[in-house]
Amino acid sequence: MSKKLFIKTYGCQMNVYDSGRMADVLAPLGYRPTSSPEEADMIILNTCHIREKAAEKVFSELGRMRAIKAARADRGARTLIAVAGCVAQAEGQEITRRAPYVDMVFGPQTYHRLPEMVARVARAGANGAGAGGKSSRVLETDFPVEAKFDELPETSASAAPAAFLTVQEGCDRFCTFCVVPYTRGAEYSRPLADVLAEARRLTGAGASEITLLGQNVNAYHGADADGNDRGLGYLIRELAAVEGLKRIRYTTSHPRDMDEELIAAHGEVEALMPFVHLPVQSGAERILMAMNRGHGMQDYLAIIDRLRAARSDIALSSDFIIGFPGESEAEFEATMDLVRSVGFAQSYSFKYSPRPGTPAASLAEQVPEELKAERLARLQDLLGAQQDAFNKASLGATVPVLFERTGRKKGQLVGRTPHMQAVHIEAPAGLLGRVVDVRLTRALANSLAGEIATRPGTGPADAEIAGRAIA
Ligand code: 5AD
Ligand code: SF4
Repeated sequence: MSKKLFIKTYGCQMNVYDSGRMADVLAPLGYRPTSSPEEADMIILNTCHIREKAAEKVFSELGRMRAIKAARADRGARTLIAVAGCVAQAEGQEITRRAPYVDMVFGPQTYHRLPEMVARVARAGANGAGAGGKSSRVLETDFPVEAKFDELPETSASAAPAAFLTVQEGCDRFCTFCVVPYTRGAEYSRPLADVLAEARRLTGAGASEITLLGQNVNAYHGADADGNDRGLGYLIRELAAVEGLKRIRYTTSHPRDMDEELIAAHGEVEALMPFVHLPVQSGAERILMAMNRGHGMQDYLAIIDRLRAARSDIALSSDFIIGFPGESEAEFEATMDLVRSVGFAQSYSFKYSPRPGTPAASLAEQVPEELKAERLARLQDLLGAQQDAFNKASLGATVPVLFERTGRKKGQLVGRTPHMQAVHIEAPAGLLGRVVDVRLTRALANSLAGEIATRPGTGPADAEIAGRAIA
């Protein structure tokens, strides 16, 4: 019998990937995706714990789901509520205590065991142990990440034009502000052969672009056919040979793991897009040290120079944390200076949020909220102006765009330029999944508008990336 599954995803792209895998693993049990929680037999909140706000959202959303569960119960329908992801990992006990109507709480490394967990809850419910009653509830926050990838079923038969592929999970860097090493565990890279096999499946299922995902993706390492340990640059070169794969991206990287082979790949592998997300967090040496980043401001600038030497049109994006404990006005200004000297195409910036259990949370000298907010606004003005300038500078250019999805307006598709800019274009749906030359005509609030570039007599210009030279 067909049942409905509603998954709400918070946080990073790895959670988006995980949500897809949870849907895959539940499909054989008869669960089909729905976008409406009111008709769902199972609701999963796939949560994020990176900042306090992200974690808080889960509890307010749970309140809404509780009401839906009660309304459905009045109609005689049973609803399983599950909390997955990093909040489940970090605050599992707290969730079961605060939200007794939640049936299942399980961490990121347990998704392959979902069918068994669902069966356990369903059985207990059917035996009258009481839906939501203590005896029927599941709390799973074990770690062994290897098992998860080995035992998850293959990715589903259809893939989006721009697909995600997790190649690496967890992190050993222990930046002093970050919960990831605690919620996702130690660094683990999937075997090269598995990654290549999944990439072939994704392209076979319709993906034209793959974004390789990992909390510290450029720490990726795996054995090649001769048993030699190879890095992300090698993996990208291997992927470039996968039939039908036109574009490769990767995120998120750590400056310390930006090795020569990866940088060189940007100049040599045409399918590797000229866009790198490389978080720096701060431009002040003392703060970088206190964050345990393992690199200084000059190291970061040197990496940017090497990337630009490998590929002159590379665009950059970064993450910034404002108001790390002890950050002085001069240290904040050092971050502003770094931003000015690099010039970012886009960026993410956050107020420092103390996370329980991380070393920075217990430092004295926490920066007052108002000061964090004021500095963040200044930084975001600068980053916003850089993003606008980057987008405006691309107007008038004709660039290859991968059409990824239909737009909100009828007859409109949304695609991305090599530099990750979203573009809205009037185009037939038949072009989904294709890379087509588009002339960028207008800058919108957070995206661009464009039109299909035509060459006299030939109709839509086809810019399949494999045939293009790197500028
Ligand atoms: N407070 C604010 N921002 C944080 N990030 C990670 N931990 C915290 C925190 N405690 C940001 C970093 C990281 C991004 C994913 O989230 O900038 O790169
Ligand atoms: Fe967190 Fe990234 Fe630092 Fe790892 S490298 S601890 S994921 S910020």
